[in-house]
Amino acid sequence: MNIRKAVIPVAGKGTRFLPATKQIPKEMIPIINIPMIHYSVMEAVNSGIEQLVFVTSTGKESIENYFDRNLELERFLEQNGKEKELELIQKIGTTIEVITVRQKEQLGLGHAINCAKHVIGDDTFAVILGDDLVRSEEPVTRQLAEVSKAQGNKSVIGVMEVPNKDTFRYGIVDGEFLADDKKSLHMKAMIEKPKPSEAPTNLATPGRYILTNEIFDCLDEIPRGVGGEYQLTDAINLLASRDKVFAHIFNGDRFDTGNIEGYLNATVEFALRDEATRDIMMNIIKEKIGTYGIK
Ligand code: G1P
Repeated sequence: MNIRKAVIPVAGKGTRFLPATKQIPKEMIPIINIPMIHYSVMEAVNSGIEQLVFVTSTGKESIENYFDRNLELERFLEQNGKEKELELIQKIGTTIEVITVRQKEQLGLGHAINCAKHVIGDDTFAVILGDDLVRSEEPVTRQLAEVSKAQGNKSVIGVMEVPNKDTFRYGIVDGEFLADDKKSLHMKAMIEKPKPSEAPTNLATPGRYILTNEIFDCLDEIPRGVGGEYQLTDAINLLASRDKVFAHIFNGDRFDTGNIEGYLNATVEFALRDEATRDIMMNIIKEKIGTYGIK
């Protein structure tokens, strides 16, 4: 079964990026000139997703507008002979169908995903959390969708190895590697943000999931968890007690852009990876090292 729908929660307040996020959704803050949400959406598009569900809240309207057409801007670019820019803008506005649903109260990630229930219907779907960007040859959501297909259309959690001291930041999976494969596991349990001493493994999800529709029953049944919120991790843990759930160590470089340090790291790294900006960034770094005497 091909996965055609993805849910991207964008209702968070983005307090780590205040004051910018007083008026701009954190998802619209750009890395150089590309808003962060654009990367998540391109990951979805390049993974074969045809319909995107944004779970939004008040003040997030510019995200929906960004993925819509802007005929006035298109006309302006056309009249001024800016063909390259015109093509780019048209592509962003026409590539994918976007549906928005509102999360009226901020009751956690599990609650946010449950808000998309009526749009997802009976389908298996992907979840992409935009705070983590993953750069890889094959988009990570596609990698997970392939594992899901190979395992009989089951749920798959994308994971990466993290230092043991960092387990308290993530949903951590426990499981057993499949006999013929050192990347995919049969998941036994999933725990939200365990202390290092309580973490069963160091396999953490940066927020990439393929979920079967049964997750919605689980989301309805779980109590509030860590932080008093309805946690997606707890629903996945319940799902794993009812059906086979897999975890998969994906290929790719992941950037945590949910905080200032990760955001700066991604900005420098993306500039260095792109031919158009590489030399500019190199020169800036060289100059700064000279100015500040960094050793
Ligand atoms: C959420 C999830 C967590 C996951 C993380 C990835 O936590 O609850 O399981 O590992 O995203 O970024 P948050 O970072 O929103 O607290």
